Amino acid sequence: MGWMGRVHAQAYVRVRHHFPDLPLRPELVAVADPEPGRAEEAAARFGFATATRDWRDVAEDPTVAAVSVTTPNFLHREVGATLASAGKHIWIEKPVGLSSEDARAVAGAVASAGVAGTVGFNYRNAPAVAAARELISGGRLGLITHARFRLFSDYAAHPDGALSWRYERERGGNGVLGDLASHGVDLVRHLLGEIDSVVADTAVFIAERPRPSGATAGHTRGAGPLGRVQNEDYACAQLRLASGARVVLEASRVAVGAQNDYGFEIHGTEGALSWDFRRMNELGTSLGSAYQDQPVSTVYVGPGDGEYAAFQPGAANAMGYDDLKVIEACHFLRSIASGTSHGATLEDAVRTAEVLDSMARSARTGTWVTL
Ligand SMILES: NC(=O)c1ccc[n+]([C@@H]2O[C@H](COP(=O)([O-])OP(=O)(O)OC[C@H]3O[C@@H](n4cnc5c(N)ncnc54)[C@H](O)[C@@H]3O)[C@@H](O)[C@H]2O)c1
Repeated sequence: MGWMGRVHAQAYVRVRHHFPDLPLRPELVAVADPEPGRAEEAAARFGFATATRDWRDVAEDPTVAAVSVTTPNFLHREVGATLASAGKHIWIEKPVGLSSEDARAVAGAVASAGVAGTVGFNYRNAPAVAAARELISGGRLGLITHARFRLFSDYAAHPDGALSWRYERERGGNGVLGDLASHGVDLVRHLLGEIDSVVADTAVFIAERPRPSGATAGHTRGAGPLGRVQNEDYACAQLRLASGARVVLEASRVAVGAQNDYGFEIHGTEGALSWDFRRMNELGTSLGSAYQDQPVSTVYVGPGDGEYAAFQPGAANAMGYDDLKVIEACHFLRSIASGTSHGATLEDAVRTAEVLDSMARSARTGTWVTL
């Protein structure tokens, strides 16, 4: 019941407001969080019928059909696999564990149990990203030649930011790779196809941080003794795609002056697209047959682009971040109802985690890694 716990709970409450034809109606049965009072507070705020400090109570509750796993990364594997094996459908946050081995374990449990599995790669749900995917697959950019994806944030830029689970390898995994680059890799695969090989460089720029003085949620300041940051603050990778396209992907959690600066520029032989999450409902386009000096324009997404029509009646009425999670909840419920996958799956999480592991390996060895 940190940030993602709240956003998932709100998405379950809102999903039928936007998708009234969904054949399933979610009811909030139980919430678990070990921090004293946190589950009770969430139950009172969002309407869960029961609250517990132990997630195993939820796994053993026969009235629970589906569970959101919004814990820190080191718990994804145990919690996700146990829930799936208990027959619960799971909507699990990225990056699904600390490594591709963890993601594979959860994917395996989901496949063996035959339950639905949806993963929190929410940026692919933005209507502008859906519009970009259609333009690319429809050949409107010609052949894709090269692209840049960036995920810059300042959430870890303050040197007094608490040394929470995110900065420890055993609990947070590979730092900004799993935290932000995972979203970029998912977008690359979703828009441009599979990645064949990578070469990468990584860095830690803030080597020590104060330990937290109490329970953490989100990005709080620490006041305890200094401890060592164990995982990546920054990553930059070059990717070769199966299509032959080249991609540069850069991610930083310590980028002063960059707040949720996530986006991409994609170039093809005949056109180009650009997207910036901070202007989520706009898509930069250069389409046509001029090649040189081809006009560039900004298009507002509208009904007909992705799931936009479920939220707003006409173009340029802004959607926001939480709406992407409502779309994800809809994908999850549709997957449960139909028995086929909608939205990002555990297989997507495994492929993404393999790319991230390869980036970490390349940064260690200084060489290209073939996937
Ligand atoms: N999709 C996105 O855009 C996005 C954004 C932020 C975070 N995330 C992912 O969501 C997950 C959680 O991130 P967050 O920002 O919400 O973290 P957070 O630190 O705000 O919250 C984590 C919560 O998990 C609870 N927790 C710890 N141990 C637990 C246990 N044993 N059982 C149940 N709950 C436990 C903590 O008490 C806390 O309330 C991470 O995997 C992160 O990568 C995804």
